[in-house]
Amino acid sequence: MALKFIKKYLAPYKLMFGLGLVVVTITSALNMIVPYLSGVIVENVIKKHMMNLLIPYMIIILSVTLVRSLLRYGFILNFENISQNIIYKIRQDLYNSIQTLDAKFYDKTRTGDIMSKLTGDVDAVRHFIAYVVYNVYENALIFIFGLAIMFYINFRFALIVFVITIPTAYIARRLAVEVKPTFTRIRTQFSKLNTVVEENISGNKVVKAFAKENYEIEKFQKANVKFKERNIESSNVWCKYLPVLEFLSGSLNIVTIIIGGYMVIKNSLTIGELITFNSLIFTVNNPIRMSGWLINDIQRFSACSEKILEILKAKPEIYNKPNAIEKSSLSGSIEFKDVCFSYDDTEVLHNINLKINSGETIGIMGATGAGKTSFINLLCRFYDCTSGSILIDGENIKKYNLQNLRGHIGISMQDIFLFSDTIEGNIAYGMPDAPFEDAKKASSLAQAHGFINELPESYDTIIGERGVGLSGGQKQRISLARALMRNPDILILDDTTSAVDMETEHEIQKGLKNYSSKRTTFIIAHRISSVKNSDKIIVLDEGKIVELGNHEQLMKNKSYYYDIYMSQLGNSEQELKEVVSNG
Ligand SMILES: Nc1ncnc2c1ncn2[C@@H]1O[C@H](COP(=O)(O)OP(=O)(O)O)[C@@H](O)[C@H]1O
Ligand SMILES: [Mg+2]
Repeated sequence: MALKFIKKYLAPYKLMFGLGLVVVTITSALNMIVPYLSGVIVENVIKKHMMNLLIPYMIIILSVTLVRSLLRYGFILNFENISQNIIYKIRQDLYNSIQTLDAKFYDKTRTGDIMSKLTGDVDAVRHFIAYVVYNVYENALIFIFGLAIMFYINFRFALIVFVITIPTAYIARRLAVEVKPTFTRIRTQFSKLNTVVEENISGNKVVKAFAKENYEIEKFQKANVKFKERNIESSNVWCKYLPVLEFLSGSLNIVTIIIGGYMVIKNSLTIGELITFNSLIFTVNNPIRMSGWLINDIQRFSACSEKILEILKAKPEIYNKPNAIEKSSLSGSIEFKDVCFSYDDTEVLHNINLKINSGETIGIMGATGAGKTSFINLLCRFYDCTSGSILIDGENIKKYNLQNLRGHIGISMQDIFLFSDTIEGNIAYGMPDAPFEDAKKASSLAQAHGFINELPESYDTIIGERGVGLSGGQKQRISLARALMRNPDILILDDTTSAVDMETEHEIQKGLKNYSSKRTTFIIAHRISSVKNSDKIIVLDEGKIVELGNHEQLMKNKSYYYDIYMSQLGNSEQELKEVVSNG
C-alpha cells in the first residue's frame, strides 16, 4: 500500500529517478575495481616484480575513486531534489485534503495528530526517497557484484562465504517483522505527545487560572514516559538481533583468513586472490550490516505512509454533489421539515418543524445545551441532519453547492476564532478584495469602529492567534463585523453580544435594524432584550421547540420565555430602584 502510494507521487520524476538508479549501478560496479586491482597488484607488482605496472594501476585506482565520488555526489543530489519535490506535493495534498474534511472529522481528530502527520510522517517519506531506495539498490548490487567476482575467482571459497550469509539474512528478516509494529506505536504515541503540548499552549490561560501547572507537567510527563517506553520497546527488538547480526558479519573476516590462508598454503588459492577476497568481504558484510538499518527505515516509511494515507483517503460525508445548485443570491426563506439530528448516538434535535419567511428575524432562546448552536450548524451544513430535511428557497440544502450556500450565509460563531492577522484582515476575511471603506462600515455597524480606532495601529493592529489583547466583547464585535461585511442573505448571530454591555448592544441593535430587514436573520441570545423585537422567537428545550411566537404571544404563554423575561426585568427594576434610592 505504501509503495503504491509513493509510486503515484514518483511518477513525474520517473526519468530522473531511473537515471539516478543507472548512475548507482555504475558506481556500484566501480566499487569492485579497487578490491580487484589490489589482488592484481600483489600478484603482478609484488610477486612478479613488474614495477612498471604500479604507476598505471595507481592512476586507474585514483581516477576510479575520483569518478565514483563525483557520480555519487550527483545522484545523491538528484535523489534529494526529487524527494523534496515529492514531499512538497504530499504536504500540499495533505493540507488540501484537510480543507475538504467536515466538522465530524475535526470532532474526532486532534490537532497534534495532524501536525505530526504534516511534519514527522512526511519526513520519513522524504528520507525513504532521498536515501533508502538507492541504498537498498546499491547494497543489493554491491552484494551481487562482490559475490559474482568471488565465485569467478574461486567457486568453493565463495560458496562458503555465501552460506554464512543465509542465517544472517534470516535474522534480518525476523528483525523486520518484529520491529514494524513498534514503529507504528511510536508514531501514535508521538501524536499524543504533540496533542498534549498543543492543548497546553492553546489553553495556557485556563491552566494558569486553575493553577494546574503541576497537573499539566504530570500529564506531559506521562505521555513523555510512554513515548520513551515505545522507543525503548523498539530498541529492545534491535538489541535482541543486532549482536547476532554483528557476530555473523564479523565471523566472515575470520573465516576468510582461516580458510583462505589454509587454501593459499595448499596452493589452491594465490595470495593475490586472497587479497582480493579479503578486500571484497565488505561487499558482503556491508549490505548485511546495512540491511538491518534499511529494514528499519523501510518499516518506518511504511508506518508513516499509512498515517499519511489515513488523511489522504479520508472522505468527508458532506461534499458537493454533481450539478449542485449555485445561486447568485438567496431570498432567505427557510423551512425545517421534521428535522432530527444526532452527533453520535444521542439525538440532540428532535422533530424540528419551522417555517421562516424571507427577511424575517428569528430569535432563538433556550438553556445551554438546548441545541441552539446545533440548529445553526445544520443550516450551514457543518453537519447534515440525521432525518428530515431543510429547505432554503424551496430547495433542499443538500442540493446546493456547499461553498455557494455558505457564501450567502454570514455567521458570527459562539466560539470566536480570530487569525493572527491585522484587524482589517480579520474583518475582511470573507471579502479580501472589498474596499477598506466596507470594513469600516461593517465595523461601525458592529460598534467596533470606536475601539479599533483607539488601538495603536488602528485597523492595522495585528492580533494574536487567539485575539490576545482584546476583550471578549471586542472579539465578539470583530467577529460580528466579519459576518456583516459579507453582506449575506442569511445572517446568523450565535451568542454574539453576550459579552457586550447592554448599552453597546442596544446601539448594535439600532444599527442592525435596517440592515437585517433585508435579510433573514437568526439571533441566538440569553437576554430578552436581544430577541425581543424579532418577528419570531423560538424557545428550544432539550432539542425541541417548546415555544414559538413573537414577544407578545410568548408573554401571554406565561411559560419559559415569560419566566426569563420576569427574572431579567426584575433585575433591571431592582437596579433602577437602587439607583433611585442611592441618588
Ligand atoms: N461536536 C459535538 N459532538 C457531540 N455532541 C455535541 C457536539 N456539540 C454539541 N453537542 C451536544 O449537543 C447538545 C446541544 O448542544 P448545542 O447545540 O451546542 O447547545 P446550545 O448551543 O444550545 O448551548 C449538547 O448536549 C451538547 O453536549
Ligand atoms: Mg451554543
